[in-house]
Amino acid sequence: MNRVSDRLLALSESETLAMARKTRELKALGHDVISLSLGEPDFNTPEYIKDAAKLAIDENHSHYTPVGGLPELKSAISHKFKRDNNLEYSAAQIVASTGAKQSIANVVLSLINPGDEVLLPAPYWVSYIEIIKLAGGIPKIVYAGIDQDFKITAKQIADNVTNKTRLMIFSSPCNPTGSVYSFEELQLLSEEIKKHENLLVIADEIYELIRFSGKHASLAAVEGMYERTITVNGLSKGFAMTGWRLGYIGAPEWIAAACDKFQGQITSATCSITQRAAVTALDESPERVQSMVEGFKKRRDLMLKLLREIPGLKVNEPQGAFYFFPDISYFLGKKSENQVINTSIDLSLYLLNSVHLAVVGGEAFGCKNSIRLSYASSEDILIEAVKRLKKGLEALK
Ligand SMILES: Cc1ncc(COP(=O)(O)O)c(C=O)c1O
Repeated sequence: MNRVSDRLLALSESETLAMARKTRELKALGHDVISLSLGEPDFNTPEYIKDAAKLAIDENHSHYTPVGGLPELKSAISHKFKRDNNLEYSAAQIVASTGAKQSIANVVLSLINPGDEVLLPAPYWVSYIEIIKLAGGIPKIVYAGIDQDFKITAKQIADNVTNKTRLMIFSSPCNPTGSVYSFEELQLLSEEIKKHENLLVIADEIYELIRFSGKHASLAAVEGMYERTITVNGLSKGFAMTGWRLGYIGAPEWIAAACDKFQGQITSATCSITQRAAVTALDESPERVQSMVEGFKKRRDLMLKLLREIPGLKVNEPQGAFYFFPDISYFLGKKSENQVINTSIDLSLYLLNSVHLAVVGGEAFGCKNSIRLSYASSEDILIEAVKRLKKGLEALK
């Protein structure tokens, strides 16, 4: 028997995971494949955080914790919000979960009814659209191309809001583009958002710490936005802790209570050991992970220089996260032997098979004109990867 639900049938397979599978298959055949398709830091978790986890194991912190997190974790998150974002969230406004991904799913599944519309600025992170669909929501895609640095305008919000719109979801710094909204830009968007009384916003700030200039801007800190914003963050990216599984929200109390109720029936709290390690990660100064951020910046600069040397490729200058999202329109319609490259997925499959370079087609992020390149790899690997990219693109006629 094979009888899965309609809900499951409506979900797409993650394009990034599909690419990882194809990469493994080629590697198993003995090919030397370079992958720029991954979405996680290649650094190790810092020692001081690992030490806190070891101590937590030795002290037997091995029991269920309250669903939304240990009191000391909520206190560390509250303190972090105040220190880094000038936001006041009490314990009742905070819910920790098994990652920013679960935090976003908690919020969307708690707030969205079938038929509700959700504004989705594109390029967007792959899972947003699937989570919206899972809730029966209708994604309304608001597209921003490379010519506007992949950032939407207030007018685009105005043009796409209807009386059914309930939520907007965006990330800054952004996966997949690396673009970052300044505080002034968020203020401009907020002027429009505030005109629509039913519109709430998920501000996904998971890449907050991986930012190459200026101070991080939180949407909830814009005047009048605190009551409408769910601030999402977590440890995966900034602390190189993807496998530990900890994300969290700061939100109006009624939303936090809803997420707590939902999570209580699905996963309960995240790992008790991870929570203890997270207290240390958040209590310590963000300066302690600055060397990783500097590492990413050096690679960003190197990649920017090398990518700009490839004729036909249009490249923006990402201000955060660890991705490039170059525009590949110039190559669409070109041919390799008998194969025409019509889409960014065709291009990514072509690059994988011809020069053994794995990248992710932009379709997965709501943008058919780009590919995503992750630079969470050593400089030597990045140099070789861009060489292969150049060779593959130059061979298209
Ligand atoms: C924009 C964005 N949000 C959320 C997540 C999920 O992070 P977590 O590991 O905390 O679930 C990711 C991970 O790739 C991401 O890129």
